[in-house]
Amino acid sequence: EADLESKLPLKGKKILITAGPTYEAIDPVRFIGNHSSGKMGFDLANEAANLGAQVILVAGPTHYKAKNGLVEVINVVSAQDMYDACHEYFNDVDVAIAAAAVADYRPKVVALQKIKKAADEFSIELEKTKDILASLGAIKKNQFLIGFALETENEIENAKLKIQKKNLDLIVLNSLQDEGAGFKKETNKVTFIDQDFKIEPMELKSKESVAVDILNKVVLYFAKS
Ligand code: CTP
Ligand code: CA
Repeated sequence: EADLESKLPLKGKKILITAGPTYEAIDPVRFIGNHSSGKMGFDLANEAANLGAQVILVAGPTHYKAKNGLVEVINVVSAQDMYDACHEYFNDVDVAIAAAAVADYRPKVVALQKIKKAADEFSIELEKTKDILASLGAIKKNQFLIGFALETENEIENAKLKIQKKNLDLIVLNSLQDEGAGFKKETNKVTFIDQDFKIEPMELKSKESVAVDILNKVVLYFAKS
């Protein structure tokens, strides 16, 4: 049983965390990516390990390294790689946290050779990637499932829709409204929304502190169950 007083309240728990961007190949030398640094996911992994959890961190391309020996890092490149790795481990974990900025679309075909410059205009046909978090929500048993949401309008409403669509226990809404928050920043301003749509706005703080707040929710969940 998890113990709030204990220094290692997540001892014996396994946590799957996704982090970083994904890169979707266009040809052998080009890809579609995004500015996610991976910091939020690595902070979550390190903090979870500090609390005693065994952590599997599935990470897209990033320069971050795990600081804690209890973190096993699985390096992946594309959304499909990340999907495959997550499904390899999900049945075996107690908690999953999707902090990765997964590409929503990828090139429909990957050119085998470098695409040469020719016409004045050029377009690439894209197809949807699989939604990793939604696929985990669809098969979850007892896992406590946490997602993130990045919204620029109708934040709360859209985040609630994601809780339902992806069958989440908790969503961490990232507010870009605030100047110190988001991609490439050291800080985040988040709002927690749970399954019952209880809304809890948090202060602007370091990503490490946001990671602590998120893992407190996990500890509380096990303390209650
Ligand atoms: N996510 C995922 N797999 C995807 C896309 C998103 O696992 N292919 C996860 C992210 O890691 C995040 C959550 O889903 O935890 C929400 O991501 P977000 O981009 O905010 O939402 P989407 O469902 O992709 O919808 P949209 O981008 O249209 O807002
Ligand atoms: Ca998306």
